[in-house]
Amino acid sequence: MADRHVDIAGQIAGIDPGLRPDDLAPDEAAHLLLSLAQVLGQANLDYHTADAPALSDADYDRLKRLNAAIEAQFPDLKRSDSPSDQVGAAVADGFGKITHAVRMLSLANAFDDDDVQDFDDQIRKFLGLGADAPLNYTAEPKIDGLSLSLRYEDGRLKQAATRGDGETGENVTQNALTIADVPQTLTDAPAVLEVRGEVYMAHADFAALNERQNESGGKTFANPRNAAAGSLRQLDASITAARPLKFFAYAWGEVSSAIAETQSGAIARLADWGFSTNPLTQVCDGPAELIAHYKQIEQQRAGLGYDIDGVVYKVDDLALQRRLGFRSTTPRWAIAHKFPAELAWTRLRDIDIQVGRTGAISPVARLDPVTVGGVVVSNATLHNEDYIAGIGGDGTPIREGRDLRIGDWVQVYRAGDVIPKIKDVDLSKRPDGAVPYVFPDVCPECGSAAIREEGDAVRRCTGGLICPAQAVEKLKHFVGRAAFDIEGLGAKQVEAFYHDADLSVKQPADIFTLAARDEANLTKLKNRDGWGETSVSNLFYAIDERRKIALNRVLFSLGIRHVGESGAAVLARHYGSWAQFADAMDAAQIGEGAAWDDLNSIDGVGAVMATSVITTMQQPAERASIDALIAELDVQDVAAPATDGSPVAGKTVVFTGTLEKMTRAEAKARAESLGAKVSGSVSAKTDILVAGPGAGSKAKKAADLGIETIDEDGWLTLIGDA
Ligand code: IVH
Repeated sequence: MADRHVDIAGQIAGIDPGLRPDDLAPDEAAHLLLSLAQVLGQANLDYHTADAPALSDADYDRLKRLNAAIEAQFPDLKRSDSPSDQVGAAVADGFGKITHAVRMLSLANAFDDDDVQDFDDQIRKFLGLGADAPLNYTAEPKIDGLSLSLRYEDGRLKQAATRGDGETGENVTQNALTIADVPQTLTDAPAVLEVRGEVYMAHADFAALNERQNESGGKTFANPRNAAAGSLRQLDASITAARPLKFFAYAWGEVSSAIAETQSGAIARLADWGFSTNPLTQVCDGPAELIAHYKQIEQQRAGLGYDIDGVVYKVDDLALQRRLGFRSTTPRWAIAHKFPAELAWTRLRDIDIQVGRTGAISPVARLDPVTVGGVVVSNATLHNEDYIAGIGGDGTPIREGRDLRIGDWVQVYRAGDVIPKIKDVDLSKRPDGAVPYVFPDVCPECGSAAIREEGDAVRRCTGGLICPAQAVEKLKHFVGRAAFDIEGLGAKQVEAFYHDADLSVKQPADIFTLAARDEANLTKLKNRDGWGETSVSNLFYAIDERRKIALNRVLFSLGIRHVGESGAAVLARHYGSWAQFADAMDAAQIGEGAAWDDLNSIDGVGAVMATSVITTMQQPAERASIDALIAELDVQDVAAPATDGSPVAGKTVVFTGTLEKMTRAEAKARAESLGAKVSGSVSAKTDILVAGPGAGSKAKKAADLGIETIDEDGWLTLIGDA
């Protein structure tokens, strides 16, 4: 331990924080970037393992700024483990966790007028409303901050939590208490009331804060949103108190009694209780009015004094909101209409090739750094080889067919938090001698053939588990925040452990055997550079803690193509346990049979995801790796959604014939929200057939099988909706 402190102190002493990057020769710059990556990486690790940090906050910030300045001067030398890419999630470790009583969701996006029209069409279709039936919406600015949930019990602020992963957030109660816009008490409020909204920082306050930080040598922020997030997520609430945060209320979570019948009514009540609500909120009678209001807000945007990145539309009638319900991570009754992205021109310096965890070969643009919407951008995604060649996803030309070449002058844009993209190229500035880019047909990491299959826009490395890049990316995904999220074991550590001959973490299971293997090794982890007794024992403890883990996290962590967080969640909810999931995948055949039908009946699972899951689970090498992992774990079953007292939880229901009081989509969504499985065909596994007028062969089959058959009213009575 002591050695490590001396070592760090020695390294810092070797770095003159006052040096000017433009005085450096490239080899000096490269050497310094290496030292900075080591020192700052170690500092991050110290932070995680809660050892006494060897680096003060001020030194940390200074070195991080120096690192960024050198990278700006020598973008080619930026390292893959650059400290600039490791943003301060570390701070979060000190907060307690809060499980949200009602999940905090995100919003689907609309990018143009057609998307807004589709939103209205789909809602009408779901509810079975004709084109002329009245349907009101609210429209309000989408605040570019971070969401916060405030829980009031008996009129007193009891708890404040960030969104986190939507299920669990960080307890920031002490910090929220310092925000002037957050009332500490409410009069005449329901016994339980969770108010949700956005914490943000106004432009003027942001500029003043950065100026103060500059003067005191503290950390400056790239934009108001980062400043708001950094200020709210301070372990020392007195720092939050000194930061000028604001809050707009726009939604709610758990409430013990209804607060209104409409969205607009609810917002008015929040304002009565003393919350700031956005003055640009308006009720509109349909897409045309929504779009007109959007345009008005867009015109006022620059003068608002705070950042907004779109306009949010919500169905006004709360009874309709309830009927519409939710997809896996977004409500059906709301959408965010985003403003067009900001643009900037810069030079395309180089094209790098990265290999992802599913073997996808992704070209990345290395750019001369340029500021886009307040953030310095030096990389952009180039998607795939067609994209570079000027061909879009549907085979038609993009950029009027203009290809991208190294040295080109390109237009970059950022929309929200997404990775920057390239919109256009200026051919008048193309350097003489620039040649079309030749896309590699072998994997640059393992030398295996990189093949593009029919219908796939992406070329993929065929090396599978033998490709080190795929294996490392899989491991990084595995330890990611929404996956195993092991404290002290981030992307950097798994990459190092992968390449280390003794530690040899080649697949996820190896993480869980690490402690035992380290015990047997001659050179122990604790004796290595950057590690010590405490940090290693903390790491092994954190790994052990994670053996017990929920099924949905496990499914997500496997990194199966097409299975994201929400896909993993619906699979987990459907199958309930690892054993049932694995059995079903063993039994499944692609494209046919009961197991295939059952998998495809899940809302949120389509043929592409289903095929990918089955293929992975049935591929012998992949499966061996997965089974080795599962053997190390205690996978926790996932219960069906809260369906206490639901008379249909766990039952398989089939709807047939005409439904008169709701659409098929609504019936299915409602049944699933009550924990039922909805299937398209009658079999011996069917529990209930709901038959409307015109029911044909399914009713007959159900009768033959002796399955309970009821009509629509019978169904509504059964589920208590009559
Ligand atoms: S409503 C169930 N309204 O945008 C839907 N969200 O992209 C709850 N946001 O996580 C969200 N302004 O942090 C809503 N007026 C507004 C908003 C807003 C900003 C944020 C919020 C949400 C994110 C989704």
